[in-house]
Amino acid sequence: MIRPILRYGAETLHCPAAPVGELNDTVQTLIDDMIDTMYAAPGVGLAAPQVGVGLRLFVADPSSGRSTADLRIVINPELVETVGSQREDEGCLSLPGFTAHVTRPARVVVTGLDREGTPVRVEGEGLLARVLQHEMDHLDGDLFVDRLHGIKRDLIVRRVRKLQRTGKW
Ligand code: NI
Repeated sequence: MIRPILRYGAETLHCPAAPVGELNDTVQTLIDDMIDTMYAAPGVGLAAPQVGVGLRLFVADPSSGRSTADLRIVINPELVETVGSQREDEGCLSLPGFTAHVTRPARVVVTGLDREGTPVRVEGEGLLARVLQHEMDHLDGDLFVDRLHGIKRDLIVRRVRKLQRTGKW
């Protein structure tokens, strides 16, 4: 089932998420819904806080559904390794219509659990590395604008506030 995606300004998006406990039916349904919601958007990643659930889990697929083998589900993820640097344009389903160049490590390793509770280790470079870090940020209550500084950040935040004021957000 597709769930509504929260936008910048919604409280859950700006708060650190809590670790996932038991991988019960509620969590399994949440995961299924997050996959449906990500592909429907369409997007390359979605974190639980984006659908209003303050839990540490995300789904990611840099192929955006073209290759099912590319789907990653990571519960209680930890960033264990970062290498190098990349600077690319980045967007977010919670900030529709906005993109900005964000500097991030070029390669990362994330560990966590899959939906059966089995430990997983995801190594990513390029777009996957970017998506993994972007989704990890969501679990700490940060959006890509929070990685920007000064005028670049202010410009986006000001435009969003204007849209909020005029009821277009
Ligand atoms: Ni995002």
